[in-house]
Amino acid sequence: MPTQQKALLLPKKQGDWEVHTIEVPKPGPGQLLVLRFLSVSLLPLSLFTMGAPLDFPHLGRRMAAIVFGGANSVGQYAIRLAKLSGFSPIIATASLKNAILRKSLGATHVLDRNLSSDALLTEVGKLTNGTPVEVIYDAVSLPTTLDSAINAVAPGGTLIHVRPGPIEEAKKAAAQGKRVVGVMADVNAPDRKKTGQSLYAKLPALLESGANKPNPVELLPDGLAGIPGGLKRSQDGEG
Ligand SMILES: NC(=O)c1ccc[n+]([C@@H]2O[C@H](COP(=O)([O-])OP(=O)(O)OC[C@H]3O[C@@H](n4cnc5c(N)ncnc54)[C@H](OP(=O)(O)O)[C@@H]3O)[C@@H](O)[C@H]2O)c1
Repeated sequence: MPTQQKALLLPKKQGDWEVHTIEVPKPGPGQLLVLRFLSVSLLPLSLFTMGAPLDFPHLGRRMAAIVFGGANSVGQYAIRLAKLSGFSPIIATASLKNAILRKSLGATHVLDRNLSSDALLTEVGKLTNGTPVEVIYDAVSLPTTLDSAINAVAPGGTLIHVRPGPIEEAKKAAAQGKRVVGVMADVNAPDRKKTGQSLYAKLPALLESGANKPNPVELLPDGLAGIPGGLKRSQDGEG
């Protein structure tokens, strides 16, 4: 195991970031040293974006769940946590080239994310034998996915979205007896602290046992200048 590591440090408030070599810290009692820093740096945000709504007490277990955006960062945690929470079947939408990976995370079925809303409903109906889908996690939350999600969620069921302000969609769903819940991954907000503490308290054991893992990431060259090219690759379905 390496004893030293490169680290990005902020020596003073409002100062410039500097790269230094520092000692790898030694974990104390009850602490876990995770070496995949890059992947783990993304973990808290996406994990809590998914984990927060699981604290809603009325959500049941052993029920069908759909994750829209099963290939994105939030969606991958959604699949893992839905599996850990006992949802079944777990249906994910993604580009079909990603189907094997999504299934390895715990999705029981992967549907092409380009299916029309009607075609998606038909496929979901076949996979659930017509059992109502009580929980949908829309990790994309574009108007098109929200529309499909509202159609697919059962009356009395819950649709969770990740973008601020889809008020119209919430009104439409409420009119059909469905619930729309927005999630904000801020563990320090007073109404979320308890959930954050509960989720993060379980995190070391989940990582240690391999029940949850950081999503794979790719380090792009050229620092910030590499971002536009990376986004373009993601947009073109190559990332
Ligand atoms: N509320 C919060 O606190 C919070 C926190 C974090 C993120 N977010 C939001 O959550 C969303 C996801 O963020 P992220 O970082 O997880 O995204 P990301 O990893 O950058 O997502 C990229 C992937 O999304 C998939 N995708 C794109 N359009 C899709 C569609 N119509 N249906 C299904 N999959 C689709 C593509 O997968 P394929 O390869 O399968 O095509 C693409 O590879 C963003 O809108 C972000 O702003 C919210």
